[in-house]
Amino acid sequence: MEVVLSGMSLSLLLIIALIVSFIVEFFVGKKEEHDANASAKLLGKIPGMKGTIKADGNLSDITKAGSMHKFLVQLHATHGHVATFWFGKTHCVSIASPEAWKDTVKLFDRPVGFFEFVKPLFGENSIQFANGNYGKQRRKLHDASFTHQAVKSYYPVFQEKTEIFIRKIMALPPEEHIPLSEYVSVFVMKSLMSALFGQNVENDEQTVTMLRHYETVMLVLNKKMSANTEKKNTFHIALNAWHEFIRKIILKRRNEPSDEMREHDNTLVCDIITYVVAAYHTSTFMLVWSLYHVASRSDVQEKIYNEVTNVLGSKSNVEPDNYSQLQYTMQVLMESLRWSTLGPFAARVNTEANTTVQGYTIPKNTPIVQALGVVHMDEKIWPEPDRFDPDRFSPTEIKKRHGMSFQPLGFAGQRICPGHRFAYAEGVVFLASICRRLRFQIVEGQNIQRRYGFVTIPDTEIWVTASKRDAM
Ligand code: HEM
Repeated sequence: MEVVLSGMSLSLLLIIALIVSFIVEFFVGKKEEHDANASAKLLGKIPGMKGTIKADGNLSDITKAGSMHKFLVQLHATHGHVATFWFGKTHCVSIASPEAWKDTVKLFDRPVGFFEFVKPLFGENSIQFANGNYGKQRRKLHDASFTHQAVKSYYPVFQEKTEIFIRKIMALPPEEHIPLSEYVSVFVMKSLMSALFGQNVENDEQTVTMLRHYETVMLVLNKKMSANTEKKNTFHIALNAWHEFIRKIILKRRNEPSDEMREHDNTLVCDIITYVVAAYHTSTFMLVWSLYHVASRSDVQEKIYNEVTNVLGSKSNVEPDNYSQLQYTMQVLMESLRWSTLGPFAARVNTEANTTVQGYTIPKNTPIVQALGVVHMDEKIWPEPDRFDPDRFSPTEIKKRHGMSFQPLGFAGQRICPGHRFAYAEGVVFLASICRRLRFQIVEGQNIQRRYGFVTIPDTEIWVTASKRDAM
């Protein structure tokens, strides 16, 4: 009897559990449906694009535009500063004015799906994907290595590697054509390895091989971003070479790794790759674009030379205490960042509440793209935006613009690029030191275009010549 009863009560319990779970699922489902409808309603009030193909959203339009940046330029030209589009099945909002950016200044989290395409390279434990309090704590730890004080210790490394760069160029026969991106990328990689990891990479050949692997990886990732086909094998060979390279750095730093250390290794590898990639590609092309303009514009070049010789004389190095006097050199770097649209966009998401941007309500969980490149080329803010003019960044001109008009390193949620001081310090040391010793000239007959991807690079190698300055 007891057995029958307990059998019956068991069945009863099971039925009740089933009914409860059905009711819960029904109401949760209803709530999700309700939330999705409410979101769609709010997003429908924002101007923007409909998806061209249902599953693809506007991905084919992004491919047709040639890049995400060019797509955003068109989107905002048609729909204004706040506009919606479909990134695959995800409804997103892009914002492209300093005023709109200001409304998102407190957001820390990144929409993880939006950067899915770099996951194979960075790894899923990368800081790039760390959100919430966990992300904030990790950033705090990382930022300690990039404070104003910490960056001071990197100046001698930048100076030493710049001297090697100058000697390498001086050893070339006069009028030799120099491949700019190749030379600068080797300098940047050596500086990075030495400053961040204490690794002295003196072997140019090994550095160039790693950079080639890296370029392959980036090429595939950039293509993926505009939904093209992927060359799987080449990608994995190149990516594995990079993982090996990074693991060797870690192992070299640890004689006998403990089990606990091994457990941390994965996050560590992800973060090191993220830092190397984020720093290498951006710093290289900030300097390549700067030198491209320096070599093309003798007026800009002479102004840097005059400033450097006035501030430093013929011998002194750039130091943390004379750095800020190299105002014009800094202006050249800033204008290169703006003109090149070096990092075309950042993105945020608010997972807790709706966000009001310029009167529009952006529902929570909607990816918000901050179209950095669109604002940096907005002719209302920067007349003749394609003209390279470092004077746009003179203290008087800066005062005339909205305080948030220029944000090449991101700005929101205290998640600005952690390497911003590092990049500017490296750039000023490099540019000031080489312009004091060398005179650059662009090789005639080249037609260099900006190729927009995750980072904006020249569409082909840039060739320059260099000659020794007489006075030095
Ligand atoms: C001129 C050179 C550089 C440019 C234009 C640049 C640009 C950016 C941008 C736009 C972001 C996204 C910021 C955001 O989401 O708000 C970013 C993030 C990041 N950058 Fe840079 N960057 C540069 C140099 C560097 C350097 C030198 C390093 C390292 C030493 C670095 C490491 C990183 C890392 C690790 C992140 C992700 C941080 C996080 O997820 O919280 N970057 N950078």
